[in-house]
Amino acid sequence: MTSTPSRISPMAETYPASSIRKMFNLALDFPDAVKLTVGEPDFNTPEHIKAAGIRAIENDNTRYVANAGIPELRQALARKYSGRWGRGLGPENVMVSFGAMEALTFALDVTVSPGQEVIVPDPSFPNYLGQVHRLGGVAVSVPVREENEFKLRAEDVLAAVTDRTAAVIINSPSNPLGSVMDRTEIEQIAELADEHEFTVISDEVYDEMVFDDAEFTSVAEVRADFDRFLAVGSFSKTYAMTGWRCGFVIGSQDYIAPMALLQEGLTSSLPGFVQEAAVAALDGPQSVVDTMVASYAERRELMVERINAVEGLSLIRPEATFYAFVNVREWGLNSWDLATRLLEEHNLATIPGSAFGRAGEGYLRLTFAVSPETINTACDRLEAFAAGR
Ligand SMILES: Cc1ncc(COP(=O)(O)O)c(C=O)c1O
Repeated sequence: MTSTPSRISPMAETYPASSIRKMFNLALDFPDAVKLTVGEPDFNTPEHIKAAGIRAIENDNTRYVANAGIPELRQALARKYSGRWGRGLGPENVMVSFGAMEALTFALDVTVSPGQEVIVPDPSFPNYLGQVHRLGGVAVSVPVREENEFKLRAEDVLAAVTDRTAAVIINSPSNPLGSVMDRTEIEQIAELADEHEFTVISDEVYDEMVFDDAEFTSVAEVRADFDRFLAVGSFSKTYAMTGWRCGFVIGSQDYIAPMALLQEGLTSSLPGFVQEAAVAALDGPQSVVDTMVASYAERRELMVERINAVEGLSLIRPEATFYAFVNVREWGLNSWDLATRLLEEHNLATIPGSAFGRAGEGYLRLTFAVSPETINTACDRLEAFAAGR
């Protein structure tokens, strides 16, 4: 008997499934579970931003708009990041995208050909692997170690560079690690990029969510003449706008220009009313961001204090984001089994560290963008698990 060839492409058949989503789906069977799983703000989108979106719909901004984004938004982003990075940027350096996810797609599309390698930190945001896979690229992992305070090192990147390396993805501040890379390491990675002719794709979606005791450096700030980078950003986390799906990527014009053509064949454009809301987010009071970040910083304190008091658990104090990456090795279970038992036996949903790569084994990711009561209840349950071992 001859076997029928699959109708489904090998790319789609072998697309790497996200274990975050797998755990999320498992948790659906436990509707009363305390959930520390979701990677999004627990705030609603600020009123003035919602109002701008509603106004735009009422004013009939409901038609197709420019592929690369409305000029007002590209201009506003160029203005914001020119000021921050001390670089002369114009709208031609900015591409507006469906969230940072699509910005990453574009960044990889314009820099990576099938068979080429993309260096990806491990642990890191699992969608990077899927994106590289779609392109027919080869993801090469570099470890980010707890003994280096969960900060990617340039020397580890160098060890993974080959003549097939087309891009290196860095993610500072990091999901899931909550760490911020040191400026010197980013400077060295920029040197390597020039020397070995690869592009640094820097996922900076948490750039505003940095706490007082840390200093964030963008890849765009390391050297005025460094231009082998694409910096990916988003309104999702900064302005509590995950569902609006508005992101962007900034870089040299030669990288950015082809993205508009690619967008035409993908989604054509992001809705104009979403983009008007994004302009309102940039032009409006930034105190809304400060208030949210101050609140995450307070909740970080509670999370750190409670986790460190649980027998067998430890964590590095997160410097940014709303994630704690908790070392659970002393408990002696693999992270998937542990997360499953916490869910089934204690009604507590967490994300196993292995969802973020092999080097994430031995950890759990806990979100602290939840109420202090939820953090306390979750930590009570972790204590109960520790006591029952
Ligand atoms: C590191 C990282 N990059 C990108 C994204 C995607 O963000 P967006 O909602 O803008 O697509 C996320 C969302 O969780 C993230 O954590």
